[in-house]
Amino acid sequence: NVKSSLIVVSNRLPFVLKQDDQGGMIRQASAGGLVTAVAPVVIKGKGLWVGWPGLHLPSDFSDTQIPESDPTDQTPTAGLKSDQVVTVNCDPDLFEMYYNGCCNGTHWPLFHSMPGRAIFSADHWRAYVAVNKLFAEKTIEALERCYKNSTNKGIPIVWVHDYHLMLCANYIREMAEEKDLKFHLAFFLHIPFPPWDIFRLFPWSDEILQGMLACDMVGFHIRDYCLNFVDCCQRNLGCRVDRKNLLVEHGGRSVRVRPLPIGIPFDRFVELAKGAKKIIKTKQKVILGVDRLDYTKGLVNRLKAFELFLERHPEYIGLVNFLQISVPSRTDVTEYQQLKEEMDQLVGRINGRFSTAIWSPIRYIFGCVGQSELAAYYRDAAVAMVTPLRDGMNLVAKEFVACQINEPPGVLIVSPFAGAGETMHEALLCNPYELGAAADVIYRALTMPEDERSLRMSRLRRREMDTDVNHWMRSFMKAMGSGVEEDDIGS
Ligand code: UDP
Ligand code: G6P
Repeated sequence: NVKSSLIVVSNRLPFVLKQDDQGGMIRQASAGGLVTAVAPVVIKGKGLWVGWPGLHLPSDFSDTQIPESDPTDQTPTAGLKSDQVVTVNCDPDLFEMYYNGCCNGTHWPLFHSMPGRAIFSADHWRAYVAVNKLFAEKTIEALERCYKNSTNKGIPIVWVHDYHLMLCANYIREMAEEKDLKFHLAFFLHIPFPPWDIFRLFPWSDEILQGMLACDMVGFHIRDYCLNFVDCCQRNLGCRVDRKNLLVEHGGRSVRVRPLPIGIPFDRFVELAKGAKKIIKTKQKVILGVDRLDYTKGLVNRLKAFELFLERHPEYIGLVNFLQISVPSRTDVTEYQQLKEEMDQLVGRINGRFSTAIWSPIRYIFGCVGQSELAAYYRDAAVAMVTPLRDGMNLVAKEFVACQINEPPGVLIVSPFAGAGETMHEALLCNPYELGAAADVIYRALTMPEDERSLRMSRLRRREMDTDVNHWMRSFMKAMGSGVEEDDIGS
């Protein structure tokens, strides 16, 4: 059986390296949907991962100095060996302009259809170009390593991820062709792809499309994002496109565009939920929110909807708690700092308004929670509110249903503006912009009869089990059309 090597390229490695007190290095798991989904794939396929280690390393740093994971490490990335990692080290000022400037300051808001929050800067764009080239160089090193060390005879698969690296594939192709290296090349975007009238606001939008079209296959979570991309290729670049079969002609090649909705390691979450200690011990029903502290997640609207719910249903005062876990994210960016302030004030105001001597409505955790603890919250919450203003997919919605092993189960509320809202049909839909309706949905979730809850939850769980992260990987392999199957990946 001929095996192919897998090389994943993403801005963030699945762990950040931190300096410990003795001057050595330790690993700390990174949060976010990309890492959660991709780590099991690389571990299982014994692939290589090219990415940024979360700190600026000395110029003489060698990847052989990366520590192995701690034996007690329970995170999904623990199985990733140090020799599977290729670090990208970059000048701090350049990285700042690329990551905080272009990726987080421009691409993130624009691709989430929030152009009012986007900053357009030629300097940031130049940094983006330079760092994408750097990632491409490191990927070529990884490719050469595959050819040199590996016994695999199959053609390696290079898989580039997310909005940080939309130019990278183009440079990889150029550099690899010069060296006559053969490979399959794919891209996956973990965030929405916006419609043309938003996308074209970006002054360098043509370059982005050309970068992505260097791949054999470009994947998105849902069909709407695929169609937006195809539309932009046609209107910006004048490409010939086939909307029915989702194909784009570019540079004499036909690029496949595919909806590949991401899944979660379902069984792992079920196991975590079975084993997790009880943390929620109150008699009150808990409504749960779990998000990075990000303005796309609709946190302010969500808390305001809960406030309105308490105003309309004072009979619930003392009987329900809102537990919001907010993971600090991109804390160097002004928009995120402002959101932190706004949330702190809002939580204080709502708690001040409704608290009694023995009860307060909102519990607010500002910090990262490990996955086993998270599973305990998911399992014991009565309601999960996943109500982003815009979100590529949202894994929290899927993890919640996986962990709902208690009978009778709880209720999932999801926004139609998240990819998850497109597929999780049995969830209650909630438009986060419409506060009154959102308050009503909370009431409906809390009063839903047990049999209806069971029916909805069992269907939601079934689907997530059938379309888990392994299914995602298989679909990706099939969409590559390279003839390489999931079982053909490995060493
Ligand atoms: N997560 C975590 N610890 C936390 C909160 C979240 O590990 O305290 C994980 C969560 O389990 C999920 C991911 O972060 O896998 C968030 O992914 P999602 O797609 O919901 O949103 P993203 O952060 O990618 O925008
Ligand atoms: C989203 C993005 C990922 C990113 C994650 C965390 O999931 O799609 O690419 O890694 O957020 O954000 P950060 O900026 O901390 O990497």
